[in-house]
Amino acid sequence: SAVEYGLDAPFSVEYHDSIPSTNARARDLAAEGASDIVVLADEQTGGRGRLDRDWHSPSGGVWLSVLFRPDVPMAHAPVFTLASAVAVTRAAREAGVEASIKWPNDVLVRRGEEERKLVGILTEMEGEADRVSWVVVGIGVNANVDPADLPDEANPTSLSAERGEPVDRRLFTQRLLEEFDSLRQDTEQVVEAWREYATTLGQQVRVETPGGPIEGEAVDIQFPGALVIETESGTEVVSAGDCEHLRPV
Ligand code: BTN
Repeated sequence: SAVEYGLDAPFSVEYHDSIPSTNARARDLAAEGASDIVVLADEQTGGRGRLDRDWHSPSGGVWLSVLFRPDVPMAHAPVFTLASAVAVTRAAREAGVEASIKWPNDVLVRRGEEERKLVGILTEMEGEADRVSWVVVGIGVNANVDPADLPDEANPTSLSAERGEPVDRRLFTQRLLEEFDSLRQDTEQVVEAWREYATTLGQQVRVETPGGPIEGEAVDIQFPGALVIETESGTEVVSAGDCEHLRPV
């Protein structure tokens, strides 16, 4: 399947048929001083999700991690998670799948009341408060994967299941990386693009934060990625990093 990838991407690409985790590999490359590298795999045997969960990554997916070194303070780094959600949403739509974004970083497909998860994003970083050293954005796309082979609790779907036929992974990945490359260099456009694809705004939501749950209407998103919620007692701004999960009320 390496043949499927003859990527003409704005990053150098390290391809693996099988690897434990592209994020772990990208972190190792970061420790060696590398940058602007994408680690891409057909299969992961130890994929990681948020909250230290396993991320099921059978052959046929697009499992990748982008390592780069943006010149921004640590507090701005959440914008790259948003950027990757926007990039993957655009690439999915070009492939004919009506994906949208649930704050902060779930890319899903809605069918009526139902939301099915298409993509998972895990961002890791290191650096000082005033300057990030490196960022690894890990993007897991259920591309040509049968959702029946994925754990049920994530309520998964895939590009191939939504389209009824496999997606061209080379083209999809190339579009995803081109979009991400452009967004990471112009983070001002990220929030605006995000609003266009968000399902969250206008909904009644509940977010678990370290200070307790916050409930109300999601009214906006702010740079670099905070959600603005109108509650009974006033306006609350929840940063993406603080949120455990968001659900409709
Ligand atoms: C989530 O919990 O929703 C985030 C899942 C992130 C999975 C991707 S797949 C590529 C990269 N490598 C990993 O081990 N995890 C991320």
